[in-house]
Amino acid sequence: MRSARNVRHWPAEGLTRVPYWVYCDSDLVEQEQERIFAGATWSFLCLAADLPAPNTYCRSNLGAMPVVVTRDQAGDLHAFENRCAHRGSLLVLSEKGEARDITCVYHNWCYDLAGNLTAVAFRKGLGGKGGMPAECRPEAHGPRKLRLQALCGLVFGTLSAQTPPLERYLGPDILARIKRVMRAPVKLLGSYSQMLPSNWKLYMENVKDSYHASLLHTFFTTFRLNRLSQKGAIVVSECGGHHVSYSLAADSGGKEYEQAGMRSAQQGFGLEDPTLLDSVDEFGDGIGLQILSVFPNFVLQQTRNSLAVRRLVPQGLQKSELVWTCFGFTLDDEEMTERRLRQANLIGPAGYISMEDGAAPSFVQRAVATAPDLVSVVEMGGADTTSQDNRVTEAAVRGFWKSYREHMQL
Ligand code: FES
Ligand SMILES: [Fe+2]
Repeated sequence: MRSARNVRHWPAEGLTRVPYWVYCDSDLVEQEQERIFAGATWSFLCLAADLPAPNTYCRSNLGAMPVVVTRDQAGDLHAFENRCAHRGSLLVLSEKGEARDITCVYHNWCYDLAGNLTAVAFRKGLGGKGGMPAECRPEAHGPRKLRLQALCGLVFGTLSAQTPPLERYLGPDILARIKRVMRAPVKLLGSYSQMLPSNWKLYMENVKDSYHASLLHTFFTTFRLNRLSQKGAIVVSECGGHHVSYSLAADSGGKEYEQAGMRSAQQGFGLEDPTLLDSVDEFGDGIGLQILSVFPNFVLQQTRNSLAVRRLVPQGLQKSELVWTCFGFTLDDEEMTERRLRQANLIGPAGYISMEDGAAPSFVQRAVATAPDLVSVVEMGGADTTSQDNRVTEAAVRGFWKSYREHMQL
C-alpha cells in the first residue's frame, strides 16, 4: 500500500470525491491546527452566559489549543491560550469559576483576566540571592491572545488578524438563521461532553449531511420528526463552510419510507410517554428542526424545543471531543424549561436521535484506515455547493470540503 504522504493531492473530480487520507494522515493534524484553527477562521468558544458575572472564567479550545475565556471586572470578555509563560503549564484547570486573577499552580506566576503576566514569584530572589536577571522579560512569553467577537450571546475567537469580521465570515443567510434561534438572553440548562472515536472532520460532515438523518436515525422517522418528505431546505454559505438544514414540523404525509421498507420507518412502536414530543412553535415559523454549522467547530441546534450549542475539539487524528451545552431563555416559564429538559433526551451521546451520530463517523474511521488512496462518493444533489430547497443532497458536505481545501491550500 502506498503511504498517505505520497498520495496527498485532491482527486481530479473535485468536491464529489473525498480522499480517505484526509482522515488518516497524521501530518494533517498539525497543518490543520496552523492553517484552519489558528488561521483565518472564527472558532466558537462559549456562550456569553458561561461567564455570567464580572470576574468569571471558563475553559475552551481553539482547535486543539487550550484556551481560557474570561469576563473581567469591567465586564469585558477576553480569551487567551491556557498556557503559562514560564514552563508551559495549563493555567486554569477547572471548567469554569470565579477569579480576580489567575495564578499558575506550578510556580505561582500570576496573570490578570486579560492574560497579562502581572507577577513572578521570587522574581528578585530571596535575601539578595537567586531570582531572575533584571533584563529578563518573561512577559514576552505570555499566552497568545485571541481576538474575540460576540454575536447574540455566542462568543467566537480567532488568532489571525486576517479573519474577516464575524458577520462577513458567516454571510447574511447564516447570520439570519443564528438570530432566529438566539432571539433572547440565554439561560444555561446543562452541559456535557462526549468523546468521539473519529477524526473531527467526520463529525462536521455528519452534521452537514441531511441525507443520513432520516435513514440512520430510526427515532426521527418512526415518530415522524424528520423525514425527507417534510418541507425543508439546505442553505450553504458562499464560502461553503457554513450551513443550515431545516424542516417544517408538519409531515406532508409521504409514505415513501414505509413503501420502500426502510429500516428507519419502523412500525408498531409508540412512546410510553408521548409528552416527550409535545412541542410549541416558539419561533412562529413552523420549523421543527434547524441544524446550523459554522466552519470549523460549531453547531447550533433546534430540535423542536431542545436548543443546544455543540463545540467540537479535535484531539489528534482519530479522536475528538464534542461539548454540548443545552440552553433556553431567561424569559422561559417553568413549563417551557421542563419541556426543553424533557426534549433534551433526544440529543447528546445517549439521545434517542443523536446517539447514532457518535457511532457512524467511527464506522467510517475504522473502515477507511486501510484505504488512504481510495475516495468517497458525494454526488447526492449534484456536484456543487449551492443551496437547495430539498434535503436529498450532500451540498453542505461538499461545502465543508470547499472551505477545508481553501484553508488547507489543497
Ligand atoms: S509553569 Fe507556570 S509558574 Fe511555572
Ligand atoms: Fe445525525
